Amino acid sequence: MYTDKVMDHFSNPRNVGEIENANGVGEVGNASCGDIMKIFLKVEDDIIKDVKFKTFGCGAAIATSSMVTEMALGKTIDEALVLTNQAVAEALDGLPPNKMHCSNLAADALHEAIKNYKETNV
Ligand code: FES
Repeated sequence: MYTDKVMDHFSNPRNVGEIENANGVGEVGNASCGDIMKIFLKVEDDIIKDVKFKTFGCGAAIATSSMVTEMALGKTIDEALVLTNQAVAEALDGLPPNKMHCSNLAADALHEAIKNYKETNV
């Protein structure tokens, strides 16, 4: 049901945790299943120097969160803003159809964190 990449990111999630002095935090939740994703950013000179996540949810939600942190790390905030949920799913070699609209929220959480950074660091 899940690809090897999904299983890998679920079993060994990258960048789990919190950044104490984060300057951007974003959270999204899925009302239908109750899963919650939170992304913490440390941005310097518009570059994402550090990114961590905390996700309360299913394996697919953890895998998409882990993947989005790997994709965002080292990017400028403008580059990270164009990362899509679709791109995250493709980087994981796909998600089961019933999980596409459920667990695939990690890019949204990242975008919320960037929005928070922009609002609080002007
Ligand atoms: Fe819905 Fe995991 S069951 S995001």
